[in-house]
Amino acid sequence: DKGNYKHFMLKEIHEQPAVLADCLRAYADGGALRLPETLDFRGCRRVTIVACGTAYLAGLVAKHWIERMARIPVEVDVASEFRYREPPVPEGTTAIFVSQSGETADTLAALRYMKGKADRIVGVVNVATSTIARESDIVLPIHAGPEIAVASTKGFTCQLAVLALLALKAAFDLLGRDPAPDLATLDRLPGLMNEALGAEPGIESAAQELALASDALFLGRGAMSALALEGALKLKELSYIHAEGYASGELKHGPIALVDRDMPVIVVAPTDPLLEKTISNMQEVMAREGRVVLLTDAAGAKAAGQGPVRVLTMPEVPAILAPMIYAVPLQLLAYHTARLKGTDVDQPRNLAKSVTVE
Ligand code: M6R
Repeated sequence: DKGNYKHFMLKEIHEQPAVLADCLRAYADGGALRLPETLDFRGCRRVTIVACGTAYLAGLVAKHWIERMARIPVEVDVASEFRYREPPVPEGTTAIFVSQSGETADTLAALRYMKGKADRIVGVVNVATSTIARESDIVLPIHAGPEIAVASTKGFTCQLAVLALLALKAAFDLLGRDPAPDLATLDRLPGLMNEALGAEPGIESAAQELALASDALFLGRGAMSALALEGALKLKELSYIHAEGYASGELKHGPIALVDRDMPVIVVAPTDPLLEKTISNMQEVMAREGRVVLLTDAAGAKAAGQGPVRVLTMPEVPAILAPMIYAVPLQLLAYHTARLKGTDVDQPRNLAKSVTVE
């Protein structure tokens, strides 16, 4: 049931504050983590995350968190590559498979490859009765509720929330890092996400311009480079506009050749220690008449000055929340662009909700 919403996707975007609150409640309680006891990272030397599509991009964000907080190396790969590369698996590897449906053929095949090779297999799934859930040693359901729209939205942000908690657990087990301060920060996520949803009117007008474009670039740094990829993926699958996501620092190594006055460049840049560098990338785009749409907070908007054709202002958020919060305007931008173009938002052409054949 779509309720009062025109599409399942829009409903699922707006459900995010509520389902994230459910998800956090399931795994954290009064400043303490409540993850399965068997999820013990002592002795773990490296993490391998395997997934497809948007779930893979959640894995890329998790790499930043786990490496930064728990100081162990994290490899992230798309399942279709991983399964056929048959990579060596060093001792002390924890393997994490991320899948909304829990039925994605390549992800399942990669999981089966890792059986007997990894110390433990963790499934981060939405469908708790799925094959990936059944075949994992430890299952962490993301509690997003049914996701009907083909484009993943609340699935992505709930995957991120679970992976953030898992990173906190790894940091506690390996380094004795107290999770309580970050858990208190995560408690603010539903409220801040409601604020991010409040930016929808501005995003609708940005979508009117974007709907006229035939190509778009998305840029970001650090964990936000994965969000740039997610923004580009959402836009292409929904609106059929050709879009590419890049780590901002890669701009000079090729994609800047595409920039001209017809090229919208969506820059995902919350205030953080890398903001200045991203602003300088943005200036390079503007010097070539590229049309910058900047997603940032009030301080970032001030630092960026007059250049961007449009600034979409997000609430100021602690770093650990930024990937979830900035997913929202990217989802809404793709949604409204597609709606204006009249494409089938919930069921885009050529796509299936669950890719059970390779
Ligand atoms: O069910 P899964 O999470 O394993 O699905 C993975 C991808 O097929 C999925 O995320 C796909 O990229 C979505 N259509 C993205 O919106």
